[in-house]
Amino acid sequence: MSLENLRNQYKGSYESIQDDSDVYYLKNGIFTNNPDEVKEDDRIQEEKHIRDVLNTFLHYEIYAQNMNNKKKSDYRRLPEKHKLLFPDVLKKLNTVDELIKVNYNFIKLMIQDYVPYDSDPNKTFQGRSVKSLEIDKVKSTLKQFVRDWSDEGKLEREQTYTPIINALLDFYKDVPEENRCELNILVPGAGLGRLAYDITKLGFSTQGNEFSFYMLLGSNFILNCMSEPRQFRIYPWIHSFSNTEKVKHQIAPVDIPDVLPGNIPVNTNFSMVAGDFLEVYGAPGYKEYWDGIVTCFFMDTAKNILEYIELISKILKPNAVWINLGPLLYHFEDLFTDSSFELSLEEFLEAVKKFGFTIKETKRIETTYSCNQNSMLKYKYNCSFFVAVKN
Ligand SMILES: C[S@@+](CC[C@H](N)C(=O)[O-])C[C@H]1O[C@@H](n2cnc3c(N)ncnc32)[C@H](O)[C@@H]1O
Repeated sequence: MSLENLRNQYKGSYESIQDDSDVYYLKNGIFTNNPDEVKEDDRIQEEKHIRDVLNTFLHYEIYAQNMNNKKKSDYRRLPEKHKLLFPDVLKKLNTVDELIKVNYNFIKLMIQDYVPYDSDPNKTFQGRSVKSLEIDKVKSTLKQFVRDWSDEGKLEREQTYTPIINALLDFYKDVPEENRCELNILVPGAGLGRLAYDITKLGFSTQGNEFSFYMLLGSNFILNCMSEPRQFRIYPWIHSFSNTEKVKHQIAPVDIPDVLPGNIPVNTNFSMVAGDFLEVYGAPGYKEYWDGIVTCFFMDTAKNILEYIELISKILKPNAVWINLGPLLYHFEDLFTDSSFELSLEEFLEAVKKFGFTIKETKRIETTYSCNQNSMLKYKYNCSFFVAVKN
């Protein structure tokens, strides 16, 4: 499907794995339900943005291989006596080249509905350059697949998604399993969709919300296009040679998905919605709509965390539950281009109460985030976890 077709398509390209009648799309962009509602400026902006993202994906191979080529030439320039000590380094770098190709094949399949599989990255977007910061987002997307959809990500999911899910099950323990589909749960900042999917599998009607096209293209691929478990093999760790204990750890494959998404309980709705959380759910139709909201590593993505808390309070039904887990690594804190407002954890919890919640439980949970468990460097977050009920 071309970008042109994508724009003209009635329902956008991003559909739930079950019935998509419940799926809403970003109001003013290409992921819209109703083309009449598209504002021209927003459409142009959004189309430019998705082209930039696709362009970045397409440049992954060239970029990663250029980095690898530099390592080869740096090695060749070493004194002969040093090269003789480690004569197999070029062989290792050639292996990395091959693995970059494997990753790139996966990426091309992921985006093939939007750009032809055999696109020449230099021609498709006519010489647009790509910065290393943008390529980092492709690498992060590969790592996010590990977190959400691989055996290797199980530990992180157990540390983060499991406590959230257990708290949700506990909060609604009096609702029989067959009636859970009547409870609507929202997962803002859903990433590649695993938490939303796992909640759906338990019978709750669940909606994930995400605004990054890197994530949206990835979750669309994994949720809608897989035919068997472990269908794809990727190599997410090959881009960094630092903090590697053994070479085999760096070139280790990761098979995805660990489970084949599908077979969600009858009558349960599952959807993913593209768009900014504040924009999508600020719409009047969502006032007191949700029975539960779960936020995982999301609250610190706000420019103003109070806006997030205020909206969560507004769109939850009275006596509904908000479960949060995450650090406070404020994404906009160091950016001069955007405003940012940061609260300490103590102040954050105070704000939660001020916006009409009773906090039932708080604890701290240590976890990593899309981390190579074999690395010599692991950033550990001492996350805040809480269960709050709207008064
Ligand atoms: C740190 S990631 C967490 C992803 C997932 N919840 C997890 O735990 O793996 C934060 C996610 O929120 C998304 N995000 C950030 N701001 C958003 C917004 N305003 N609306 C929707 N999604 C947003 C980002 O694109 C990113 O995928």
